[in-house]
Amino acid sequence: MGCAQSKKDEEVVAAPSNDDAAEGEAKDAKDEVAKEEKAPDEKPKPQIFAIMRNGHEVIRGAQRDVQKMVDKGKMKEAKALWAKMHKWADIHMKMEEGSGTDESPMGMFRLLDKNFENIAKEQGLYDDHVELNKLEEAVDAAFEKGDKKEIKEAFDAFAKANTSHLEKEESIMMPKIKEFIAGGHPMKKYMQEELLATVSDDQMEHFIKFANEILEKHSEGEPRVRVFDHALKAASTPEQWAKWDAWIKESLSKKSYKEVQDAIQA
Ligand SMILES: [Fe+2]
Ligand SMILES: [Fe+2]
Repeated sequence: MGCAQSKKDEEVVAAPSNDDAAEGEAKDAKDEVAKEEKAPDEKPKPQIFAIMRNGHEVIRGAQRDVQKMVDKGKMKEAKALWAKMHKWADIHMKMEEGSGTDESPMGMFRLLDKNFENIAKEQGLYDDHVELNKLEEAVDAAFEKGDKKEIKEAFDAFAKANTSHLEKEESIMMPKIKEFIAGGHPMKKYMQEELLATVSDDQMEHFIKFANEILEKHSEGEPRVRVFDHALKAASTPEQWAKWDAWIKESLSKKSYKEVQDAIQA
């Protein structure tokens, strides 16, 4: 616990404006990363790695929508949504792969590999990405060509591989993220310097807007959008937040935006 405390202090020094994030994560180490648990009268705690975990719900939600369009033969709509989804998934993938070296930003996989005996490499997560990239390119090519049968075949193949990849990553990453938190690792620093630092300023607007649109649509009874945005707030500098908050506001209904604001300001 002493270790956890000293690490937490390091985080506070690194980013004093969001120091409740580390505390929330340490307390909630046993809980699911994508959910905010709270006792009555207690404010919800941000879970910084919900940016990755609920990021999977962005990909799943968009994939479900594209699948429906493809199955109904609405290829023009499907192509437009696929383009946005592909762009978003590439950003998420880069946050996982990082620089591919120990140089910052090293990405999620490298953090896991360094701390847990090459677990991401050994379990084939990088190899999955190589395969997914090929399947995504095949979907791009099929949409370009415009043949309905080819689009459906290419998308079905991608969706199958992608669905198992997301599940596999969650089964590997979620327990290790809990171990990071329980061990007092600087989660906010990791998210800022090793993951979000892979996202360029140009990409960030799409990353935030698309995530908010999809998570609001695919909430499935969970506060997915609020948890994602609360994590973004906890990981942001005040300057970043001023921009990000405006993009969130543009993307959400008034009701959802208020829920986000209430959680953040609680
Ligand atoms: Fe991945
Ligand atoms: Fe992922």
